[in-house]
Amino acid sequence: MRILFKNIKELLQVREEPIDFVSGKAMAHLPTIKNAYLLVEKGLISDFGKMENCPKIEADEVVDAAGKMVLPTWCDSHTHLVYAGNRESEFVDKIKGLSYQEIAEKGGGILNSAKILQNTSEDDLYNQSKTRLEEVMAVGTGAIEIKSGYGLTVEAELKMLRVIKRLKENYNLPIKATFLGAHAVPSEYKDNKEGYLRLIIDEMLPKVSEEHLADFVDVFCESGYFSVEDTQRILEAAKPFGLRPKIHVNQFTSLGGVKAGVEHNALSVDHLEEMEPDDIEALKNTKTMPVALPGCSFFLGIPYTPGRKMIDAGLPLALATDYNPGSSPSGNMNFVVSVACIKMKLTPEEAINAATINGAYAMGLQNEVGSITVGKKANLILTKPINSYYFIPYSFGEHQVERVFINGNQ
Ligand code: NIG
Ligand code: FE
Repeated sequence: MRILFKNIKELLQVREEPIDFVSGKAMAHLPTIKNAYLLVEKGLISDFGKMENCPKIEADEVVDAAGKMVLPTWCDSHTHLVYAGNRESEFVDKIKGLSYQEIAEKGGGILNSAKILQNTSEDDLYNQSKTRLEEVMAVGTGAIEIKSGYGLTVEAELKMLRVIKRLKENYNLPIKATFLGAHAVPSEYKDNKEGYLRLIIDEMLPKVSEEHLADFVDVFCESGYFSVEDTQRILEAAKPFGLRPKIHVNQFTSLGGVKAGVEHNALSVDHLEEMEPDDIEALKNTKTMPVALPGCSFFLGIPYTPGRKMIDAGLPLALATDYNPGSSPSGNMNFVVSVACIKMKLTPEEAINAATINGAYAMGLQNEVGSITVGKKANLILTKPINSYYFIPYSFGEHQVERVFINGNQ
């Protein structure tokens, strides 16, 4: 199967030489080709260039992209898309003035979602989750990470991860699974966090590994949840199972989790709404990707990750949705890219780099997706007719996605 996109007004994120990620000043550069063609063969990008050099070949499908742009699909490196039920009533509590922490103390929050999930069958959970996956794919997501963490018992954590595994089997986009048993301390362990840590380390981790259910390990490192020391213990315990960390840190407080993440070779440290100078220092010249989740800041009304400051300090940055029922009930990457520009003062070039190649890196997928590079998956967005790519973040709350291709298939 050969697909030829021709007359592309502008082909975005063209990387002739493969790269891992972009940081600092390089983030301001988004390489493009105007008036371009792109050839897809057997689901992979096989050739691209200026229209005047377009090879005369027989294609099974020709897509005339006149007036439209083509870019790699969004890479959403942080989601909790597998969950049961919703938390609209907490949303109203929040409008009335309760904070995220106050809602959690009232028995809401993560424990509320866990209670619902524990009482939901695996099939039901799969069906609820697949609807969300299809929705985000329709608006341009072509690679995604999904976490457990609403189970909080051995059985329910495994149930969540098995649902992610089924999504991997039934959908053809790259999906990465992260084990987040340490998302909250369940009420049964309220006065015995040590007991829950032991459950994670002695029972959950070996079972997750035995069934090959996770690619990464995560911990919610935050006061009232898991300390830096707890985090380090879990990351240590996960290491022999080959689970690289991607951790929740600095959402409400800077505790030193960023440094601990870097020391444990974390692939990413995510949230980062509260960043001290030491946190920025700890990330310099490392292989750990900082990930901002502006949808969460928007929804909870908490500070935005100081992305501008971090990029100016030479760091890379990735953007993700954090799609979950409590702090970011939207998986729309187009909105995230807009908010990053509007609220975090990223330029469109920086935001698009953050949501494609850097997001791919934050999932270990930089050799498969995230740029227009020969040999990568033809996971592509064809936009509606637009004047310039600035229009993508500019038209917030809308999206400019006309068609989405995964492995070259719509
Ligand atoms: O990334 N902060 C921790 N976990 C999620 C929210 C979970 C929830 O409230 O259900 C997050 O924001
Ligand atoms: Fe999260």
